Amino acid sequence: MPLPTNPLQMVHLGPRKKRPRQMGASMVCPPHDIKFQDLALYILEKKMGTTRRAFLMELARRKGFRVEDELSDSITHIVAENNSGSEVLEWLQGQNLKASSQLELLDVSWLIESMAAGRPVETTGKHQLVKRDYSASPNPELQKTPPLVIKKISQYACQRRTTLNNCNQIFTDAFEVLAENYEFRENEVFCLAFMRAASVLKSLPFTIISMKDTEGIPCLEDKVKCVIEEIIEDGESSEVKAVLNDERYQSFKLFTSVFGVGLKTSEKWFRMGYRTLNKIKLDKTLKFTPMQKAGFLYYEDLVSCVTRAEAEAVCMLVKEAVWAFLPEAFVTMTGGFRRGKKIGHDVDFLITSPGSTDEDEEQLLPKVINLWERKRVDSGKCSQQEGKTWKAIRVDLVMCPYERRAFALLGWTGSRFERDLRRYATHERKMILDNHALYDKTKKIFLKAESEEEIFAHLGLDYIEPWERNA
Ligand code: UTP
Ligand code: MG
Repeated sequence: MPLPTNPLQMVHLGPRKKRPRQMGASMVCPPHDIKFQDLALYILEKKMGTTRRAFLMELARRKGFRVEDELSDSITHIVAENNSGSEVLEWLQGQNLKASSQLELLDVSWLIESMAAGRPVETTGKHQLVKRDYSASPNPELQKTPPLVIKKISQYACQRRTTLNNCNQIFTDAFEVLAENYEFRENEVFCLAFMRAASVLKSLPFTIISMKDTEGIPCLEDKVKCVIEEIIEDGESSEVKAVLNDERYQSFKLFTSVFGVGLKTSEKWFRMGYRTLNKIKLDKTLKFTPMQKAGFLYYEDLVSCVTRAEAEAVCMLVKEAVWAFLPEAFVTMTGGFRRGKKIGHDVDFLITSPGSTDEDEEQLLPKVINLWERKRVDSGKCSQQEGKTWKAIRVDLVMCPYERRAFALLGWTGSRFERDLRRYATHERKMILDNHALYDKTKKIFLKAESEEEIFAHLGLDYIEPWERNA
């Protein structure tokens, strides 16, 4: 019978030893009773050191955990110390494992808490070096064992899976402020650089904790990396702080929060010296568009986010109205809510009906608006604001021909993802994609599609679910 190789294990065996240890090709059968059969732990030596690893292995075995000496496909949990998610992923990549989809990559804090509790504690975000929160997935299998993606990260959002579980919010929030400020200053190049950087970081399954973690990640220009470095070192970015305190940024942010107000109008009001909405509303010389009038009138309602419950209620109203004219129509909630967002700034709908004529399609939206307008007048709700029992909500209604519905659905489900899908089609496939169609420039033909899956297939892309398109 071969002897245990680890001297520490021999020292600690003592009277609890029940039977001699057997050594297989890749694992040691521990002498302690295994209480938790479903778990097989591997403790990573990298950055932890041999002595501490051996100590933790022995301790965990005594507490009834199955700890294996070597990494194999039967391992369920990898425990590491002083390693970032990206470091563990990089190491794992070189390990030649067949299946990594069941693996949990955890910080040593999970093991320590588990040993203190005398049982494996639930793995939460704070333990997970690589987060795989697919709880938004409608697929129950994926909710349990989401794939551990260890692939080169693409520069295109349409080749990344981006859920709402953002491990790098501290960075992406900062980038979004900077991107918005560049947008207000009409600096498209820098705006895009920070938007792309935010988008790529949102797709990472780990949190960036050192500059080393940024290696191999596309779309991180020097300007972006400087911001990351400052946040890692100081916990915040001085550039972001300056922007948040900047008068022009604050004014543009305020002005564009009014429905119907864009950059041009904001610029004009800012140049005129306005800094508050109240003064603007009182200026009789200013002319407002019908959208801006509505924006001021329902300002409080429109700046407060739409909840999913409100979106569902609106959906019922839309369906009811649409079906009054086209009983066969399909009404689908698109936009952020289709991507699983819990709140939104509006509610987007795609309407399509098999067998509808061009005329039906052209007339549907005016008919629906008319119906609502009549109902509003009849109910006397008009624009009365005192003690009101209703809320104004922005609703985007899109009607499309039935054979275009897959393209429209893909387009209106949106996020940055959609823009990169078009960029990908143009640059990588010589195709033109928009909300209506997909055109193959080489073959000079329009490619038909009955579903989003077919469009991805035409583009040679893996299908990405709507809730993975939060780029
Ligand atoms: P939204 O602006 O409603 O964004 O446009 P959103 O993703 O739903 O987010 P919130 O929660 O409302 O803020 C939805 C999608 O519709 C497409 C875009 O792809 C966008 O992501 N869209 C929007 C167009 O294709 N054309 C437009 O003119 C407007
Ligand atoms: Mg929306």
